[in-house]
Amino acid sequence: MIEAKNLKKIYRSRRGDRVAVDGISFTVGEGEFFSFLGPNGAGKTTTIQMMVALLAPTSGEIIIDGLNVVTSPHEVRQRIGIIFQDPSLDDRLTAWENLEFHGRLYGIDSRTRNKRSNFLLDVMGISERRNDLVRTFSGGMKRRLEIARGLLHSPRLLILDEPTLGLDPHSRRSVWEYIHRVRREVGMTVFLTTHYLEEADSSDRVAIMSSGKIVAQGTPDRLKKDLSSEMLSVETENPDSLNAYLISHYSSLEGQIRREGDGTLLFPLPPGLDLSPWDLLRSIPLPIREASVRRPNLDDVFIYHTGSGLKSENADKRGGR
Ligand SMILES: Nc1ncnc2c1ncn2[C@@H]1O[C@H](COP(=O)(O)OP(=O)(O)OP(=O)(O)O)[C@@H](O)[C@H]1O
Ligand SMILES: [Mg+2]
Repeated sequence: MIEAKNLKKIYRSRRGDRVAVDGISFTVGEGEFFSFLGPNGAGKTTTIQMMVALLAPTSGEIIIDGLNVVTSPHEVRQRIGIIFQDPSLDDRLTAWENLEFHGRLYGIDSRTRNKRSNFLLDVMGISERRNDLVRTFSGGMKRRLEIARGLLHSPRLLILDEPTLGLDPHSRRSVWEYIHRVRREVGMTVFLTTHYLEEADSSDRVAIMSSGKIVAQGTPDRLKKDLSSEMLSVETENPDSLNAYLISHYSSLEGQIRREGDGTLLFPLPPGLDLSPWDLLRSIPLPIREASVRRPNLDDVFIYHTGSGLKSENADKRGGR
């Protein structure tokens, strides 16, 4: 469905060049749910803008549904429903009018338009508010209406650029319930960008993006298993000594030990030693205040590949929409 090869985008300005997307390659299969996981400025939105022909790649190629985006932009856009990162509804219009407007823009005849609008408002759980001004909608409802609108012309690919950014946890969950529901009922390929781990975790495959590059890609399970079977977290009086002990005894931990707040170190269980996490903990000749063992998550994977963490949900600077 999507095939990107060595895709690159350099923004040029008088103050210098900025490489926003640095030669990335990925493919997304028909019906797949694929995520780009990356922090602010990773290049996610720039990639999407190239996918929908709003930006020309500096080099490289992108094919969607067999069509080259650069040479067939209109045909490609017909096949894509896009939910932009920044809200794009007209909030002086009602929900229904927003759909009408979009439907006409795409040249959908009125019978089909009505039928699809009714169906999608129903799937997205906003039928009852169809004649209310969008201005009066909550952030989550606006997002759901944007998704309904993006699906009106029956695209085969739905692109969602950080669809739940700035929503409270309850609205985020509800937006996701509806996305899953529409996938079940309509069936299409979904391309998502997010910096929330849990969202990427529910996708079929994920590409981890940092500073314009894809640093790892695969199923969430595979990526976590490739990192390690277990993550150990150890709190001690003297983290520097523990750090020194770990590196001298388990050389593969060099560069993989992360300090968390006070005196806690987090690190993967060194692979290939036939050692249980408990064996390793018992071998430590220093007083331990607290220790725990858990499975790796995508944040661990991200840190391993980039040396720094993703922002947590609570640290989200860019507030509500
Ligand atoms: N129009 C532009 N001109 C110059 N630089 C830009 C432009 N748009 C984006 N950039 C830069 O390109 C890089 C990638 O930006 P992009 O918006 O693609 O990231 P992102 O992953 O979508 O981030 P976010 O999570 O904040 O939305 C950033 O360094 C950004 O500052
Ligand atoms: Mg973005």
